[in-house]
Amino acid sequence: MRFGYFDDAAREYVILRPDTPLPWINYLGSHGFYGLISNTAGGFAFYRDARLRRLTRYRYNNVPTDAGGRYVYVRDNASGHFWSPTWQPTPGVGLDDYSCRHGLGYSRIASRHADIAVETVYFVPLQQTLEVWRTRVTNVREQPADLSLFSAVEFCLWDAIDDSTNFQRNLSTGQVEVANGVIYHKTEYRERRDHFAYFACSAEVAGFDTQRDAFLGAYRGWDRPAVVEQGSSSGSVAHGWAPIGSHQVRLQLEPGETREIIFLLGYSENPTTEKFDPPGSQTLNKRRVRPVIERFSQAAEVKDALTELRGRWSETVESLQVQTPDPHVDRMVNVWNAYQCMVTFNLSRSASYFESGTGRGMGFRDSNQDLLGCVQMIPDRARERILDLAATQLESGGAYHQYQPLTRRGNDAIGAGFNDDPLWLVLAVAAYVKETGDLTILDEPVVFDHRPGSEAPIYEHLRRCVGYTLERLGPHGLPLIGRADWNDCLNLNCFSEMPGESFQTTENRSGGVAESVFIGGLFVLAADEFVALATRAGYTEDVTELCSARNRVEQAVLEHGWDGDWFLRAYDHAGTPVGSNQNDEGKIYVEPQGMCVMAGIGLEDGKAERALHSVARQLTTPHGIMLLQPAYSRYHVELGEISSYPPGYNENASVFCHTNPWITIANVRAGRADRAFESYLLINPSAREDQSEVHRSEPYVYPQTIAGRDAPTHGEAKNSWLTGTAAWSFVAISQWILGIKPEYDGLRVEPCLPSHWDGFQATRRFRGASYSIVVPCATDASRKTVQVSVDGRPIEGTLVPLAPAGATVNVEVRLS
Ligand code: GLC
Ligand code: GLC
Repeated sequence: MRFGYFDDAAREYVILRPDTPLPWINYLGSHGFYGLISNTAGGFAFYRDARLRRLTRYRYNNVPTDAGGRYVYVRDNASGHFWSPTWQPTPGVGLDDYSCRHGLGYSRIASRHADIAVETVYFVPLQQTLEVWRTRVTNVREQPADLSLFSAVEFCLWDAIDDSTNFQRNLSTGQVEVANGVIYHKTEYRERRDHFAYFACSAEVAGFDTQRDAFLGAYRGWDRPAVVEQGSSSGSVAHGWAPIGSHQVRLQLEPGETREIIFLLGYSENPTTEKFDPPGSQTLNKRRVRPVIERFSQAAEVKDALTELRGRWSETVESLQVQTPDPHVDRMVNVWNAYQCMVTFNLSRSASYFESGTGRGMGFRDSNQDLLGCVQMIPDRARERILDLAATQLESGGAYHQYQPLTRRGNDAIGAGFNDDPLWLVLAVAAYVKETGDLTILDEPVVFDHRPGSEAPIYEHLRRCVGYTLERLGPHGLPLIGRADWNDCLNLNCFSEMPGESFQTTENRSGGVAESVFIGGLFVLAADEFVALATRAGYTEDVTELCSARNRVEQAVLEHGWDGDWFLRAYDHAGTPVGSNQNDEGKIYVEPQGMCVMAGIGLEDGKAERALHSVARQLTTPHGIMLLQPAYSRYHVELGEISSYPPGYNENASVFCHTNPWITIANVRAGRADRAFESYLLINPSAREDQSEVHRSEPYVYPQTIAGRDAPTHGEAKNSWLTGTAAWSFVAISQWILGIKPEYDGLRVEPCLPSHWDGFQATRRFRGASYSIVVPCATDASRKTVQVSVDGRPIEGTLVPLAPAGATVNVEVRLS
């Protein structure tokens, strides 16, 4: 069953009914000011940091779900009847012609009720710290309509956590100012804050409210605010309690008439010395923000800003465009997967609670991987991100598990000691240099752990990344796992028996001898990338040394990390294998199969093939590839959080989507083209659109997890949007299946296509040139031979040499 459809030409997903199984959301803003918006206008906004600069409130476990957002009520003044054209928060009112179009950086929600049509577009103009809601109201009646619009947002008192916990203080601190119809939220501005929020309206305002209880009425919800019911704003000014913003606008519409009203919700800062106007008073200085409000209150400016935004997004995703025989591939690569990569790059993962504001920081391993999916779209920001991440690295080579973008510091609460973390930085830098050719990043001096004076070139940071693993090898010569590796929930040195205790940070087994085969694979992969970089940078002695270390770790994986039919997952604290046929539960894990084969381990002696065969047989379901089998049916204190989840959920044997593209890439490496494509398609959200009632999350973005075979809700997705699945799926399809791979000396084109495809076409922007690629191939050909021609001339091999910036290069790849 579907709840909407893809409008591929418009690069939009169109939702046709408001009661989607879960709120189906979109993201507004891409650099600074952000908002989450659901298909019924729920969600919240923040400036740079969802916890510390939070503009509006949101309650995660609220009933009904997804209450609180960007609301506008329409009231028919003749009858007193009122409703919200976005369905929430008045779902009791039936809407005609409801649609929500989520596009790249904007959402448009339209509906009709009582012959009044309302359409609102929500977006954040480029370079601005505000969101625009452009509302168009049309009277489709045959008589004039006398209407009122009431807007409503609930402000957060800036710190999202403190806001929801510190009642004794917060009930007394709220402050606002209202001037010329603009509502300024200025809680704590009188003391140490120099920022404020504002909520403005382009139309003449008939009234306003800023105190929640005055607007709603005591004991009422957003579904029937007293003020809307009565038809006139109360003019309340919040002193303490719960500041909100609400305007009333009166509209007299002739039959067929349309009126446009623009609401602006923004964030602004003043220099500390110019906070008040006049100086010495307690009145907010509005001189800086007034011109911004004036500008975006004009229809023409808003129209241009929206066009500009859409143009920017087109340019961004057009770094790669493909036409293949499969619409699911096309729309994900050309639009949604690329877009999701950008959103994840901006906001890191759901698991870090950064976007929700209830936790701190962006993941170190996460951000390094997220970059792999979007370096071709935003190379400069990727470079900046790499430097920020490296600056939180410790001198030991280890890394804080998370860092905070506002302060650019590592997060002490979670600390370090996740032993895979540093290796991902090597993959990120390699991807950046291959995409851009910018080797100068290796010489860029960056501090360790934010300590001035500790600057060392990025190259040295990378040396320490690989050195960190080599200084931490265990009894089998495999890397020690530390608190956890990629699988945060495999906690082999933490034996936790206290409810509420952190599985990750309570390291209560001395020695920490547990080893990870997964890190072994990751190390080999990262070492190869490091060697290629070091060779280019001329550090030959490092190369020789590292090559032999790499081979030793590879040997250890082959000797001690192989279980007979698949790669082992780990050795636990007692030296017992994890992910082995010897275990009763958790016999096989997906991560080492993907990672070891991606690193090329076992390709020569048949182990890779066998491991992938085992994955297909034991872990693959119609809803994707499960993380492990059999699921843990009880809590294993020696394994940690992984066994705390009920069978089939999260790390305990769900389809943890992030790992699936690793299997896709591994299949390509092993030359299993059809298997590669099958595994790719299993979790492709568009390919799952027809079963939206089972999948339940958005059909246009990857979720973090899909319930596994052991779960009663097998196939149900959770935690959409912010997941490493985005980056890795993009890499898997674009670089491995389609085979368009940036390399140091050119663009490799080496497709590994499913046998039922008869080819594809693509355009790829690469180092300033544009590559137009055609791949014809007969479905009955063996495809063992690849012949690449560049501008009509055949070349040796599959590496298309670099072209000068501005050039257009025609590439033909014949598979026969
Ligand atoms: C997982 C765990 C959670 C942990 C998080 C960190 O989702 O369930 O406990 O904090 O990963 O990445
Ligand atoms: C979450 C975390 C990520 C971790 C994964 C598996 O997605 O953000 O760091 O690798 O869970 O535990």
